[in-house]
Amino acid sequence: MHVTDADKSLIGQPIDVVPTPALVVDLDLLDANLKLLGDYFAARASKLRPHFKGHKCVTLARRQLAAGGSCGITAAKLSEAEQLVAGGVTDILIANQVVGSGKARRLAKLNREAAVRVAVDCPENTGELGAIARAEGVTIGVLVEVDIGMGRCGVTGELAPELAHLVSITKGLRFDGLQGYEGHLVTLSDPEERRRRVPEAMQILLEVKTRLEAAGRPVSIISGGGTGTYDITGNIAGISEVQAGSYALMDAKYRTVRPEFAVARVVLATVVSSQQGRIVLDVGSKGLGGEFGLPMLDGAPGATVRKTAEEHTIIEGLSARVGDRVRLIPSHGCTTNNLYRRMWITRSGRIEDVWPIEASGCLE
Ligand SMILES: Cc1ncc(COP(=O)(O)O)c(C=O)c1O
Repeated sequence: MHVTDADKSLIGQPIDVVPTPALVVDLDLLDANLKLLGDYFAARASKLRPHFKGHKCVTLARRQLAAGGSCGITAAKLSEAEQLVAGGVTDILIANQVVGSGKARRLAKLNREAAVRVAVDCPENTGELGAIARAEGVTIGVLVEVDIGMGRCGVTGELAPELAHLVSITKGLRFDGLQGYEGHLVTLSDPEERRRRVPEAMQILLEVKTRLEAAGRPVSIISGGGTGTYDITGNIAGISEVQAGSYALMDAKYRTVRPEFAVARVVLATVVSSQQGRIVLDVGSKGLGGEFGLPMLDGAPGATVRKTAEEHTIIEGLSARVGDRVRLIPSHGCTTNNLYRRMWITRSGRIEDVWPIEASGCLE
């Protein structure tokens, strides 16, 4: 159970009544972020396909769609797509590979209820998806993933047309286009470097498109981009959708890269010990996604987060007593949301709602 009756009974009360650690969202800041990017893409040929992995909450995904400018939702995993379809979302791109017959069957079944596209980068996976789609009597829309410099999944631009051709002639599949994610560029701190390097990376996709269309194979979708590159990738003619996700809630890593979006999510923690100038909080690495380093303190100038342990965060330079509440901005919001079951939605410090994070912990 992600949200209980006891949780709901706290609606209307000040946020400090919730048990900690707790994931807390400021609704006005969240809505301002959604409006900023929704309006941006409403006025452009390229559309937003918000990435679900940044929060894993279906209520928030629906709010992103309602904010306009978008063409559907991006998911990282099949299990995320299943939660989205269960929540009524009808246009999803799984921006990764779905491999193995069990998962291929789940993907095919999902396509009976919604358009759930998937990325492929090899002939074997293409064959497996096609066979199962035929057996299940559905057609699965496919994007060929191209490695545009990140060095993760994706064929080279050179080999992409051949794989696109294979997808096109595989019954049960429909070749819809290309995906290329410039993940090695999204958090570059120098905006000029981003402006220079992102178009170069995206050019690889555009060249594949040109070659395919010259051979009579239309490419209706080119999908890529993130929060750090939305205003570059989203303005390149031919890129049809941008998969930004972090913009909605933000985190400490993205804060300096994209100051136009507000940090709308914090982890609320309680001081459990105060000894010799050392403040210890009741949240540690098990409650804070930490691959981008230590969390930041929100609203505590002069204080420093020294380290995190499994269940504790140690702060220096903070004047606080046992029982006080402290707000932390996680370094990486996406992995932090994966650790919580609910988000406390607040306005002016009062609990307005509690949203389940349906896909937290969904890994398969
Ligand atoms: C495939 C893909 N697309 C888009 C994104 C963009 O997300 P963000 O908005 O966090 O930059 C990511 C992030 O890891 C990703 O893996």
